[in-house]
Amino acid sequence: MNAKSRSVVAACGLAAGLLLAGCRQDMHDQPKFKPYAKNDFFADQRSARPLIEGTVARGHLNDDALLATGKVEGQPATVFPFEITPAVMARGRERYDIFCAPCHSRTGAGDGMIVRRGYRKPPTFHEDRLRQAAPGYVFDVISKGFGAMPDYAGQIPVADRWAIVAYLKALQRSQQATLDDVPPAERARLDAMDKR
Ligand code: HEC
Repeated sequence: MNAKSRSVVAACGLAAGLLLAGCRQDMHDQPKFKPYAKNDFFADQRSARPLIEGTVARGHLNDDALLATGKVEGQPATVFPFEITPAVMARGRERYDIFCAPCHSRTGAGDGMIVRRGYRKPPTFHEDRLRQAAPGYVFDVISKGFGAMPDYAGQIPVADRWAIVAYLKALQRSQQATLDDVPPAERARLDAMDKR
């Protein structure tokens, strides 16, 4: 490449650069309304239009009240909105260990790592009042928060909240279980564990 063609290449590069910069400026100055800006086109002069009546945010139809609110006729539900299978339980355990155990601990005693570092200590899940709490009540606590506990509606999708409730109820049972609660076929395994 001689000196002349080098300067042509350089000039083209410069022109391209200017063009691109020009484009960028266009994007900056595009016709648009800034939030809450006035717009004379509409009678109410608002550029932001209200949602059309009946608009539903994607995934928020919430036509199943039990599933979405944990309530039946305004009372905390004593039933689950879907069948609790071993897969749901496993999911609940996994989610519980991630989202609840840091404060409530894996056993539900309420002495999780964050609490040991100074966060307000929650009650144990194994006190009578909470052992008797309806599944819908626990769902409500997760969804709306409770006292010093923040809500987890934003972090945990509805189905996972219910899976956590199922696991929490099983966790409560596990702490007060007797040998009679263990299926006969599994008892021998427990004995073997004891002897280890
Ligand atoms: C950041 C710590 C923290 C996390 C994480 C947390 N909690 Fe709590 N939780 C608390 C505290 C603190 C209280 C007691 C609040 C109070 O009495 O002011 C509480 C109370 C509760 C209660 C008892 C409400 C009552 O009636 O006394 C339930 C049930 C509960 N939490 C469930 C959960 C579940 C399920 C999760 C996981 C999805 C969870 N919490 C995650 C801190 C936490």
